Amino acid sequence: MTTPGMRRYRNRTTDQATLVGPPGGGRLELRTLFGRSAPVRLEIGCGHGEFISQLAAAHPAEDHLGVEYDPLRVTKCAHKCLGAGAQNVRIFAAEALAFVRHRLADSSVSRIYVLFPDPWPKLAHRRRRLVNRAFLGELTRIAAPGCILSFASDTHGYAMQVLSNLTLFPGCWQNLLLPAGYQVDRPVRWPTVFERHKREEGCSIMHLRCERTALPAPFTLGSPELSET
Ligand SMILES: C[S@@+](CC[C@H](N)C(=O)[O-])C[C@H]1O[C@@H](n2cnc3c(N)ncnc32)[C@H](O)[C@@H]1O
Repeated sequence: MTTPGMRRYRNRTTDQATLVGPPGGGRLELRTLFGRSAPVRLEIGCGHGEFISQLAAAHPAEDHLGVEYDPLRVTKCAHKCLGAGAQNVRIFAAEALAFVRHRLADSSVSRIYVLFPDPWPKLAHRRRRLVNRAFLGELTRIAAPGCILSFASDTHGYAMQVLSNLTLFPGCWQNLLLPAGYQVDRPVRWPTVFERHKREEGCSIMHLRCERTALPAPFTLGSPELSET
């Protein structure tokens, strides 16, 4: 259901549209998209745009991609980025797995943020979780050496599932939060909307942080070795 507050994002202004990525299915030429060659950060499921807008404003020498499948949220993200004075952003209205798989080249991103993906806490719904083995395979492929993957969720079982699935890519990711492998309630610079809500509800947040090594990704595009869970 569309809330009254979101209705105003049904129509995109010309300015907002400049920050929305072009539709299409082929590989993106990031240099052409941003008109320069710079490191590229990616936020998956950027929601209402609080995080990506502040991130992009704080890093003007880098470029930022957001992917979000709710078109009203895409427009709101663009609105927030304009408000923050950030032009170095393109938000794509797309399904994240398809976007990463088909539109991003190998070793093309320098930072990846997956903050509060839909948790699907019920056992029967767990197969719907976005950050499954296949998705992590694609992130492993697009992450440049040194790329840091940040993941946060109040659903601790989801974070543990991601941590465990990362071991399917041996030698590809170095855990930066050893010895536990995760950190609970790590202070963050820009809490997302979802994080604020969860903190207000008294939930604790589990954070993962891993760095991509230079080892080639062991699986290739569309690999049948990777199941969806
Ligand atoms: C729980 S919200 C969190 C939003 C934001 N990251 C935050 O922390 O406030 C999850 C977001 O991911 C988007 N999303 C969920 N699954 C997606 C998918 N497969 N592809 C693209 N976006 C997705 C949803 O529309 C929603 O905006």
